[in-house]
Amino acid sequence: MMENRTDIALKEYYRTNYGRMFLGNCLDLLNERIKEQSVDLIMTSPPFGLVRKKDYGNVDSHEYIEWFKPFATAFKRVLKINGSLVIDIGGAWIPGQPTRSLYHFKLLVMLCEEFGFHLAQEFYWWNPAKLPTPAEWVNVRRVRVKDAVNCVWWLSPSPWPRADNKRVLQPYSDSMKGLLKNGYKAKKRPSGHDISNKFLKDNGAAIPPNLIAVANTESNSFYLKYCKEKGIHPHPARFPSGIPEYFIRMLTDADDFVIDPFAGSCVMGEVAERLKRKWICCDIIEEYLRGAIGRFKKQPKQIQEDIFQQDGNGSNYYKIPHPGILWNGFNYPKLDSLGGRKRK
Ligand SMILES: C[S@@+](CC[C@H](N)C(=O)[O-])C[C@H]1O[C@@H](n2cnc3c(N)ncnc32)[C@H](O)[C@@H]1O
Repeated sequence: MMENRTDIALKEYYRTNYGRMFLGNCLDLLNERIKEQSVDLIMTSPPFGLVRKKDYGNVDSHEYIEWFKPFATAFKRVLKINGSLVIDIGGAWIPGQPTRSLYHFKLLVMLCEEFGFHLAQEFYWWNPAKLPTPAEWVNVRRVRVKDAVNCVWWLSPSPWPRADNKRVLQPYSDSMKGLLKNGYKAKKRPSGHDISNKFLKDNGAAIPPNLIAVANTESNSFYLKYCKEKGIHPHPARFPSGIPEYFIRMLTDADDFVIDPFAGSCVMGEVAERLKRKWICCDIIEEYLRGAIGRFKKQPKQIQEDIFQQDGNGSNYYKIPHPGILWNGFNYPKLDSLGGRKRK
């Protein structure tokens, strides 16, 4: 899926109140149109790793890292010192064997060690609707579990990016509500942490963990209807708007400047427009931008309908069972000493 065509001349494709969409190679955009240290946030999901099996069964993560380097240089140049670079990136399986590529970890290490970015925090986007793949390892041989998280690397040119977690608070859990109501005896936890009474202050909402739960289940949005109506193939690898919205809210103010250089269907631009941030989106494939334009043709009612749909039709909670719930419940056969090497 990696595209690095240089033969396409950069051009402005569409314009809104707050943003602009460009067709072309984002390297041209970043290097020729964006001023040094002018961007508050780069929020993006780059093409995921090209997974190629080598003779000895390893993925060429080196190739991905090399491909990414010119983008890293450009990102570093355009970002403000206290700005942020947020990269949503999925992992990959090595073809033919049940092991994982290291490419996204290598990317992170390279950005920090070679390009001087600081890792502000690593996030994990859990997609509860993710299908169990690859079926061979997960469903057939049963030697791996469902891969349901993407890594989201939050980086910055300085250790002190602008940020405020009060923008992304979430409701207290039922157990925390109980503690707030019934009180808690201050004592040391088994971990050695001293839980003082300050812990019991009701701040109205909870500080979220670095695990973001958003199901990627868009099926009836205005964007999809628009694409269908115009005979456009919808972008095949969209993130749900909750992902860019989380970081745009936490890391920028209104009128700040946000860029998605690998914008695909411009989910980021749609969110930035709604939150009144200045934005630029760029993609190298025209059909994706043709579809993206539909995002800016919505009426307020349709905007509300899409937000409601993305919130899980009003049910905003996911429950994660404790892993032990079914333990000891079965009489298991012995483990396969071949580790699933042969199909049974
Ligand atoms: C994972 S997709 C992004 C999807 C997007 N987040 C969305 O929700 O629609 C990555 C995109 O990067 C684009 N791309 C790849 N190389 C590019 C380049 N050099 N310049 C601009 N876009 C590029 C691809 O065409 C693809 O649409």
